[in-house]
Amino acid sequence: MKTILIIGIGAGDPDYITVQGVKALNRVDVFFLMDKGRIKGKLRGVREEICRRHIAPGRAHRFVEAPSPPRDTAPADYRASVDELNAAKQSVFERMIADEMKDGETAGILVWGDPMLYDSTIRNIEAIIASDRNKGRHRIDNEVIPGITAVQALAARHRIPLNRIAEPVLLTTGRKLAEGFPAGIDSAAVLLDGEDTYRRFADAGIHGEMEIYWGAYLGTPDEILISGKLKDVAGEIHRRRTEARQKNGWIMDTYLIRKAQDG
Ligand SMILES: C[S@@+](CC[C@H](N)C(=O)[O-])C[C@H]1O[C@@H](n2cnc3c(N)ncnc32)[C@H](O)[C@@H]1O
Repeated sequence: MKTILIIGIGAGDPDYITVQGVKALNRVDVFFLMDKGRIKGKLRGVREEICRRHIAPGRAHRFVEAPSPPRDTAPADYRASVDELNAAKQSVFERMIADEMKDGETAGILVWGDPMLYDSTIRNIEAIIASDRNKGRHRIDNEVIPGITAVQALAARHRIPLNRIAEPVLLTTGRKLAEGFPAGIDSAAVLLDGEDTYRRFADAGIHGEMEIYWGAYLGTPDEILISGKLKDVAGEIHRRRTEARQKNGWIMDTYLIRKAQDG
């Protein structure tokens, strides 16, 4: 049996790793790393720092790295391009599991934030296990270890609860939010927004006045936090976001957008 631990490492600060995460790190014989392009250096740095701090001296482990398959950045069909990317990642993991670990060993995949939130690692590993099962084999097992998501980091750094009392919160993407603020929703936590979609809601319009809690590079030394009435801060967020993206070559940002109560 080969065991795959899918370990959430938190979304930025190496201290976001949980005690359960640390225990999992110390079970791993081989870490499978799959990183991409420009952000590789920084993200890899956090991963290395976590391993350096938390893996007990003398605990033997190795790293196997594979380049992340290339992604179409402006696809005609977004969903099809994500499916394609995941199929490619699945084959990379399949190869690493087959060639880079022995039976009885444990592999670790370090997932940014928590693996349950906008991350396909669980789906990809499940697909590999299902295909194994279809061939009448049961040679791979998996476990998921939760981590601190970007959304939790955002709420903590702004010192806010995510929801209003007894109200729901929608977890969504910039692409979905661009279709309109969903009816019946008071608050939305937005990830993966490359287009500053919040700006569409700066004018009160049918949604009424909105407020925003925005955070970039949360939990890292580059962290930026801005909050306020959307009409007052949308321009500043856009400006800071553009500058930071130019300076660093990449940006990771997320925000909570909600109807202002006194608006
Ligand atoms: C592919 S999703 C992965 C989310 C991750 N699994 C989690 O639990 O936070 C990547 C998105 O998460 C958000 N994100 C992740 N880390 C962040 C950070 N440190 N600061 C701000 N946003 C972050 C950004 O919206 C980014 O586009």
